[in-house]
Amino acid sequence: MRAFASDNYAGAHPEVLAAIAEANADHAVSYGADPWTAKATELIRARFGADASPWLVFNGTAANVLSLGALTRSWECVVTPDTSHLHVDEAAAPERMAGVKLLTLKTDDGRLSPAQIEPLLARQGDEHSPQVRVVSIANSTELGTVYSVDELKAIANVAHANGLLLHIDGSRLANAAAALGTSLGDITTAIGADAISLGLTKAGALGVEVVVFPNEPPAGFAWLRKQHAQLASKMRFLSAQVVAMLEDDLYLRAATHSNAMASLLATSVTAIPGITITRPVQANAVFASLPPALADAVRPDFPFYTWDESTSEVRWMCSWDTTEADITAFTTALQSAAAAV
Ligand SMILES: Cc1ncc(COP(=O)(O)O)c(C=O)c1O
Repeated sequence: MRAFASDNYAGAHPEVLAAIAEANADHAVSYGADPWTAKATELIRARFGADASPWLVFNGTAANVLSLGALTRSWECVVTPDTSHLHVDEAAAPERMAGVKLLTLKTDDGRLSPAQIEPLLARQGDEHSPQVRVVSIANSTELGTVYSVDELKAIANVAHANGLLLHIDGSRLANAAAALGTSLGDITTAIGADAISLGLTKAGALGVEVVVFPNEPPAGFAWLRKQHAQLASKMRFLSAQVVAMLEDDLYLRAATHSNAMASLLATSVTAIPGITITRPVQANAVFASLPPALADAVRPDFPFYTWDESTSEVRWMCSWDTTEADITAFTTALQSAAAAV
């Protein structure tokens, strides 16, 4: 199957699988006191800062839930776009597991603007009102857009000026860094993020994400991870993936490629009758509207999701292993189907 449904449809990168196989020798201390975890920590600190504190977990929902749970108390809430993954695609895990209330905001393109934050703060200090504590944004966003460094700084500044913290859902942080030509640290710790969910799975790992704090973690974070069933016993296999993804900048090569494939896809389909690109293509997602009959005609061979039934908008995701041949085959299928419907 060659799919444009999700970057999670792609397999694991061969360099990651090789690293896991290589780690599968002899015995190693469990729960993270092993050389692979030490190396992963070193590589993360080289990117996020010498004092950064990394915590490996199994998936992105866990990274978000743990980040938000660590940053908030039970009466505090999290401001996030109404399109955010943690609001619409995590089955209320933040509410149930982190115990946070989410305050959602409408955005034009998935990106929060700093001006949207302060109006929510009128009742800070009022014991009857939930207290805003965290702003959580994703980069790249769920709508395939990317916050610039200046936009991130502006949000961090408004948050901090008002005593709030900034969480970045970096499920696709690699795609944002590749799009902006920055390092991972430039768009997280350097702009003042207080917790980061660093995604590596979509970029090519088999399955590992990292909660990164710029300094010491909030008190008790080790226990919080364990309570959330996110402490891997054979940690070396998670850590080996982190090492493989970061050591020779595999995450960046992979994301640069998937971004380029999205851009190629968007260019390739624009001339096809009935297809309109609906959003800026800034990372590895392409959003388009097309007649449902056209979408249905090609979907069996190239699976993808409808994003919004009401507008017939679909989302096409490119992955680290999307090839130019995939784009050509998909475009050709769309062209033929468009001529037939
Ligand atoms: C922006 C964003 N955050 C978090 C996640 C959660 O990842 P997982 O499915 O590994 O829990 C996803 C997954 O699609 C995502 O797109």
